[in-house]
Amino acid sequence: MGLRLRLRLPHHKSSPRTPSYLLLCVLALSFFSFTALLLYKVDDFIAQTKTLAGHNLEPTPWHIFPRKSFSEGTKHSQAYRILQCSYFSCPYNAVVQPKSLQSESVSGRRTHQPQCPDFFRWIHRDLEPWAKTGVTKEHVKRAKANAAFRVVILSGKLYVDLYYACVQSRMMFTIWGILQLLNKYPGMVPDVDMMFDCMDKPIINQTEYQSFPVPLFRYCTNEAHLDIPFPDWSFWGWSETNLRPWEEEFGDIKQGSRRRSWDNKQPRAYWKGNPDVVSPIRLELMKCNHSRLWGAQIMRQDWAEEAKGGFEQSKLSNQCNHRYKIYAEGYAWSVSLKYILSCGSMTLIISPEYEDFFSRGLLPKENYWPISPTDLCRSIKYAVDWGNANPSQAETIGKRGQGYMESISMDRVYDYMFHLITEYSKLQKFKPEKPASANEVCAGSLLCFAEQKERELLERSRVVPSLDQPCKLPVADRSRLERLIQQKKKTIENVRYMEMTRTKKSSK
Ligand SMILES: *[C@@H]1O[C@H](CO)[C@@H](O)[C@H](O)[C@H]1NC(C)=O
Ligand SMILES: *[C@@H]1O[C@H](CO)[C@@H](O)[C@H](O)[C@H]1NC(C)=O
Repeated sequence: MGLRLRLRLPHHKSSPRTPSYLLLCVLALSFFSFTALLLYKVDDFIAQTKTLAGHNLEPTPWHIFPRKSFSEGTKHSQAYRILQCSYFSCPYNAVVQPKSLQSESVSGRRTHQPQCPDFFRWIHRDLEPWAKTGVTKEHVKRAKANAAFRVVILSGKLYVDLYYACVQSRMMFTIWGILQLLNKYPGMVPDVDMMFDCMDKPIINQTEYQSFPVPLFRYCTNEAHLDIPFPDWSFWGWSETNLRPWEEEFGDIKQGSRRRSWDNKQPRAYWKGNPDVVSPIRLELMKCNHSRLWGAQIMRQDWAEEAKGGFEQSKLSNQCNHRYKIYAEGYAWSVSLKYILSCGSMTLIISPEYEDFFSRGLLPKENYWPISPTDLCRSIKYAVDWGNANPSQAETIGKRGQGYMESISMDRVYDYMFHLITEYSKLQKFKPEKPASANEVCAGSLLCFAEQKERELLERSRVVPSLDQPCKLPVADRSRLERLIQQKKKTIENVRYMEMTRTKKSSK
């Protein structure tokens, strides 16, 4: 072949004006102009395509944080990656879940359905503002003004519309969690259209939005706000602080907690964390760092330093050596609560301003000890003294706290998401549709955008279709929740009273 070609070449050269040569010229010209256009478009493309990893997304204007920087080599390799991840990672995946398989796995499910934990009742209460009116397109439109991203589920497929960037890898891990829910309960998650914000503080002020409540999902809420709490990203991992998926962390912490018996744990209260997160209570806590005066040891965590040292000093399983562990909120709620409770030490919770989906089920003097935010050091000292005077009671409170966290298994986290989404979808007054600017997101496309470390964590929290049904959602019972809230307040008041009377006695 090669020989023949070479032999022919001179012949072609000698007759350059044949029609085939012209055709070749035209073809070459169009190829070059196409390539030039493509190269030119690549810049546009990189500059415009928004991605789950945060490309081309501004931080939320209602909460400014530094823009993410991406160091992924040349522009063209970046463009290639964005193109590949955004547009060529999902179709293959779609083939994996044909309808027949879905119904098979649903019908093959075990019928046993345990009752969900009591705190699932909050789902009804969180959605109450829309019970009468339902959720209309106008609601969604207004929620969009406060949202970082929108999640639309249609026939078990996930579409995400991106508006603003989220801090660190929050968005990626949250969306991964939703994808895993779809994996776990194939064919069961209803069509839904949800607006999410991923910043810390709730913003739908109950008073201001009274006449037209806006449905916005985020990681925490409180009595003064209507934001709907949803499990935060850390249940699937938090790569920036080296936290692995929740069940791995829980298992290790529980094991670490067994290394010392109660008697051998230090009879003091311990806190280790980052005080520089615009949290007045954490700054206040720094003042209680005195073993003899306040019975407390307060340690500063510098995440940048920890990262350099390979996070050796921040292992949670090595931080269960004290009988008492303090929880202090950060800028809003803090993901640290679940790890602190997991130690099995008596948890001293400084009365929080914010609550996440599971913390509302905690009961003072039952599975934690309430600390006053206004007389912080003295309140900590009182708790430590009470615990050291009543060691078996203190140990029991600690064990119940650990048991509470053990009951929040990933199965229950997915069940909470499942019921919340299902109940919310029932309120929709419209048929959800794919927003024009939304892209389909599947495991492949999300992993494609993940950095090495993120990908490792995400892979570890992958789920397979469940053989069990979700737990059974308790019915709405407003008066029961009210009773619990009142009972909680009363118990906390009692502790405050005990503190006060002791302070008076000792100052006499
Ligand atoms: C909610 O809005 C009302 C009325 O504007 C205001 O008085 C109140 O302080 C706000 N609450 C919070 C928690 O921001
Ligand atoms: C608290 O006191 C201990 C022991 O004196 C010290 O090592 C630690 O750095 C102190 N913590 C803070 C946050 O200053």
